[in-house]
Amino acid sequence: MKKVLIKVPGTSANLGVGFDALGLALDLYNEYLFEESDEYELVNFLDDYKEDNLVLASYKRVFEVLGEEEIKVRITEVKEDIPVSRGLGSSAACIVAGVVGANNMLGNILDINALIDIATSIEGHPDNVLPCFLGGLTSGFISGGEVYYTNYDISKDLFFTILVPNFPLETKVARNALPEKIDFKDAMDNLAKAVNLPIMIASGDFIGIKKAIRGAIHEKYRYPLITGAEKILYEVTDENHVVLISGAGPSLLVISDIDDEIRISNENFKVIKVKANKKGVEIK
Ligand code: HSE
Repeated sequence: MKKVLIKVPGTSANLGVGFDALGLALDLYNEYLFEESDEYELVNFLDDYKEDNLVLASYKRVFEVLGEEEIKVRITEVKEDIPVSRGLGSSAACIVAGVVGANNMLGNILDINALIDIATSIEGHPDNVLPCFLGGLTSGFISGGEVYYTNYDISKDLFFTILVPNFPLETKVARNALPEKIDFKDAMDNLAKAVNLPIMIASGDFIGIKKAIRGAIHEKYRYPLITGAEKILYEVTDENHVVLISGAGPSLLVISDIDDEIRISNENFKVIKVKANKKGVEIK
């Protein structure tokens, strides 16, 4: 009977101006063990995940897409360090684990691009899925159902901290807060910054990052949904630190050019220093 352990990193999507396109991988991990079995079984998952388990649904999707007969598995959640519903890519991690697990059971018949396409079709956008697969910083878009992307290194001169609140925010709610139309000038400003930002992150140009990262197309609509976040933004932002909403929120991501410990007065947010992950998904 086949078995495989899949390790998937958490991710922080958007990076301000890179809405639905940019994301980076973090050294926070979930691990799932897939073991061929006579019946489908989920072990160690929290109860509320059993009904509509995203790892299992994503696993099954691969068989459905390929028209292959399902190979039943027992899936054990060995480790869950990525906070759920906190804008740190926990859904993408489940999806990537599921599709990679299925591909492994099938003898690795799909290449990584095919897996990225399937995972993105489940998630809806590639900004968490891509860095979860590839590690580092990624930018991607969907065209004709396929994902096109670029993968960048992240400068070793940049440091990352996540501020994770003790309350969740559903992505659907955060997306519903966005306007249907945005101002043309805001769109142009965002575009010009977004095309520069990945190279600045790769090269560690922190002065450029501070200018390029801040756009007007989504964060301002979301801060009101995250109690205390705007105060933290003003408290932490300075010459050496920029604060962003991580993904759809409610966590915040701080990027810094100094390796320090961030302190905030709001006790509802946990301060976690993280490193960028370079490897993406790992199969053990
Ligand atoms: N780009 C997405 C958003 C990330 O901001 O809504 C959440 O998956």
